[in-house]
Amino acid sequence: MCVVCHIALRKAVLIGDDVIVVTGGSGFIGTHLCQRLEEDGYKVRILDIVPPQSGIRGEFVRASVLDAGRLQKLFNGAEAVVHLAALIDVAASVSDPYADFSVNAAGTLNVLETARRAGVKRVAFASSAAVYGEPVRLPVDEEHPTAPLSPYGASKLSAERYVLLYNRLYGMENAALRLFNVYGSGQNPLSPYSGVITKFANAIRDGKRPIIYGDGSQTRDFVHVDDVCEAFVRAIECGGKDMPCNIASATETTLLELMEEMCNIADVPADPEFLPAREGDIKRSVADIALAKKTLGFSPKISLARGLGGIVGKRK
Ligand code: UD1
Repeated sequence: MCVVCHIALRKAVLIGDDVIVVTGGSGFIGTHLCQRLEEDGYKVRILDIVPPQSGIRGEFVRASVLDAGRLQKLFNGAEAVVHLAALIDVAASVSDPYADFSVNAAGTLNVLETARRAGVKRVAFASSAAVYGEPVRLPVDEEHPTAPLSPYGASKLSAERYVLLYNRLYGMENAALRLFNVYGSGQNPLSPYSGVITKFANAIRDGKRPIIYGDGSQTRDFVHVDDVCEAFVRAIECGGKDMPCNIASATETTLLELMEEMCNIADVPADPEFLPAREGDIKRSVADIALAKKTLGFSPKISLARGLGGIVGKRK
């Protein structure tokens, strides 16, 4: 019985039979999610262009979401799909909007069509806070205007519209989760995709000065990857509703506060290097998560202090 939607959906889970497909299962969120799903007794099938990390037992198919033939085979007999595979480099989306659109929008349509034909009722899709652009009011709820500032935000917005349209047209129970700034262990610090927390942690560990772009007064809503995984599990167990849903911590943190907290945990003096603000950087961001609470029973469990504790070690 799913405690939130009061539907007896977990029956097969309890005997460990349900198959969940995770596209992008080798990435940062995907790795955590596959681990979580396997712990919960699901059978995981991963579709990715790179192999999963060691420790993930699930079946792996190396393919792009644009490869309809491979998708079809993978989706047959699955209970639900978590669709994480995407191009996530915002700057790259500006230089090559078509590549971004192909994978993020057309690729999502491929996933939806394949799911529909395979009789998979639920696709939980990773959308992004990027769909909002620069917030005009805070906290940002789901009725906030959408005004993406990049092709990446536009492709995510387009994809989530299809995800929810499939509920209306084909009776699916898809969910579109608008993820805010996700952090946690396992992000590659050298990757341009890595968020500021990974960058700061890496600098602190190497005895370097963390770089702050701008004056550090910009804010973000940092949500721990384990809370994000919980949201996806709830979305596949409860089914989505007709609205996209913010997944965040609902806590606004300035970059300076973040850096001080991390230096404090590491027991090193806070001494950042300030560089000019990044072009197009949004000034403030914090989410309203009432809808996620209501529809998914989602409530983030990991405070920033606790989450950072798992990432920043004390320097010797
Ligand atoms: C994040 C997402 C992006 C999404 C956007 C939507 C990540 C990695 N990126 O971008 O995919 O489109 O939200 O709103 O989660 N900063 C520093 N020093 C650093 C690195 C970053 O000061 O070394 C600053 C940035 O200028 C920014 C803030 O930290 O003000 C957060 O940056 P970042 O973690 O890269 O994420 P977003 O830009 O918010």
